[in-house]
Amino acid sequence: MLRIFLFGATGNLSMKKLIPAFYQLLEKRQLPENVEIICIGRREFTRTSFQDFVIDRIGGERDVKKWFTFIKRLEYHQLRFDAPNDYKRLLEKIAIHEVDVHLFYLATDPRFFTIITRYLSEFGLLEYSNINQRIVFEKPFGKDLESATEINEVLSTYLVEDQIYRMDHYLGKEMIQNIMMLRFSNMIYEASWNHAYIDHVQITVTESVGVLERAGYYDQSGAIRDMIQSHLLQMLTLVAMTPKKYPDEETVISGKTEVLKALSIADAKTDVVIGQYVAAKGMQSYRDEKGVPPDSCTETFAALKVKVDLPRWEGVDFYLKTGKRLSGKISEIAIIYKETGKNLIPDCPTNVLVIEIYPKEGMRLTFNMKKPGTTQEIVTREMEFCQSCLVDYSAPEAYEILIHEVIMGKHDLYTRWDEVKYEWTFVEKMLHECGTLGDKLQFYPAGSRGPELADALLERDGRSWYSL
Ligand code: BG6
Repeated sequence: MLRIFLFGATGNLSMKKLIPAFYQLLEKRQLPENVEIICIGRREFTRTSFQDFVIDRIGGERDVKKWFTFIKRLEYHQLRFDAPNDYKRLLEKIAIHEVDVHLFYLATDPRFFTIITRYLSEFGLLEYSNINQRIVFEKPFGKDLESATEINEVLSTYLVEDQIYRMDHYLGKEMIQNIMMLRFSNMIYEASWNHAYIDHVQITVTESVGVLERAGYYDQSGAIRDMIQSHLLQMLTLVAMTPKKYPDEETVISGKTEVLKALSIADAKTDVVIGQYVAAKGMQSYRDEKGVPPDSCTETFAALKVKVDLPRWEGVDFYLKTGKRLSGKISEIAIIYKETGKNLIPDCPTNVLVIEIYPKEGMRLTFNMKKPGTTQEIVTREMEFCQSCLVDYSAPEAYEILIHEVIMGKHDLYTRWDEVKYEWTFVEKMLHECGTLGDKLQFYPAGSRGPELADALLERDGRSWYSL
């Protein structure tokens, strides 16, 4: 029997992503029919009032009959994370058998990770080294290196690494999983995937929304900790890693860690640009958002130029850009190839391979041809494959894939402790080298491309942003 305990069940993530993902997995028969889903929150609900709350909060088009049948299976248990008696009551509610698989999903503030783990262990719901008892920790795993290390140390007294699943939902996205497939199943790409052929790489994840109702969390975090530390660094590692063998969980993760350890910023004063949006186009400024202090210096935008100090990437720049309230929502990776060598046709536009993650899923490759006619004029053409345009294509949500992975006991799409550790190490070093962030803050109009200095970051190197 599989039991899912969803901590933080009344929160936004549970409503928007997790409960819908459980529904889809059941529909696709990727969860056993007798799965128990126990939703746990601090708020006072009965089972039925919680079910009504879910119906109220979760929209979207679904088969109404099936959706209502699903909702009726959701249990609710009120629990204060730091109250031992509440765990005792939880234990009394369920009969545990040795063969049960228990999946604890902690969609809570990271400051509760250790206390929840501790009480689950003390009350016998979680047993050291029992890999049928797995626990997922939502992002962010800590708020800096110190807090992440502390969390990890406490967890390791109750759990072995194989029981721990650190979530980065970008790893469940179809096209992000495809980076490795593209590289390691196509000689045409892997053979040229190095500094001899690649000029630079751009990783862009922009959003048009502001902080929505998450100001409390976001203002303590900012774009660098919220997005760069996790999603963008993970994307970078997948582009830059060299696993000894593929596919092999251990060497893939070691390959990623090797990249994270090799990251550096040549000059944090010039190679890191941060910004914050101000009112424009009828949108309010960040400082006017509900819950944001009026003098906040939190960055809602970040662009960086990063080096990967490994032989494969000698001299190759990696540019990362992310931000909120920009002109559009887009996630893509552009690999910009070098100019043709001296003995070939000079001055051609360079080849660009774009891995599109959002809004479309697919890839584009530019290449040069002869313009039809009597001259030797060059024209640039594009080959495009749009996966999300395929008839009947419906990609599973990243969360469905990731929850399914835990149920199968697979860690491939989760981050290991050393990855998280080196992500934080890099971020902290960068923040330290930047000095006072408030002094660097560039203001940009909401709905724009971001601060002009972010364009200058590339222009200085004779380049420009390929995406938005
Ligand atoms: C989350 C961040 O991890 O990712 C959010 O905390 C951000 O601030 C979100 O909006 C973006 O995810 P996606 O899947 O919508 O690109």
